Amino acid sequence: MDFSGKFIVLDGPDGCGKSTQAEMLRKWIASQGVEVVSFRDPGGTEIGEKIRDILLDTTNHKMGVRAELLLYMASRAQLWHECIEPALKAGKCVVMDRWLSSTCAYQGYAGGAGIETVIKIAETSLERVWPDAIIVLDVDLATAAKRMQRELDRMELKGDAYHEKVRQGFLKLAKFVDCVNIVDARQEIEAVHKDVIKIIEKRINRK
Ligand code: TMP
Repeated sequence: MDFSGKFIVLDGPDGCGKSTQAEMLRKWIASQGVEVVSFRDPGGTEIGEKIRDILLDTTNHKMGVRAELLLYMASRAQLWHECIEPALKAGKCVVMDRWLSSTCAYQGYAGGAGIETVIKIAETSLERVWPDAIIVLDVDLATAAKRMQRELDRMELKGDAYHEKVRQGFLKLAKFVDCVNIVDARQEIEAVHKDVIKIIEKRINRK
């Protein structure tokens, strides 16, 4: 299996365990003999980290969904330009912690901007819209809450109704975007990892 130049995303609601799974996936791909780099979205660049701070700052309670959407997109455009594109061109495998799928679920579906509108904006803002594979780690609110025993940021503070819609947004996206796959993340860490690998093997072999 050749992971060289492959672009893989782990995504899902807050508390789904995606950072743990991204790290396990990164190690597994590296063990296949390919150089892997990981970035977080929003963030990953100096400019992107500043945008991230604005987005997650709990005092920015006046932020509307359009500004929110465009800031996430701006951070992503910079990350592509500075980090992702050069890494893919150098033959590395890129494993992302979140991507456009999050904007579709959070701002598009839960925030009400519309998933189609988010995709249209992405098509004019990003050089590459969809990766080779997106794995969405699906988790219910109660399980997610147990995993988030810390101070919450501006997005995490949006409340249960919003976060239930985020989950539904991810599930909807998987129905019409081919590269999006759902994994049941309520399972134990190792079982989730095995499911992630199964999907990645199928996706990468297909190319
Ligand atoms: P993180 O905590 O997973 O790094 O993500 C930061 C927060 O931003 C998280 O609550 C999800 C949210 N988010 C969006 O609302 N839209 C987006 O496009 C992205 C990438 C993240």
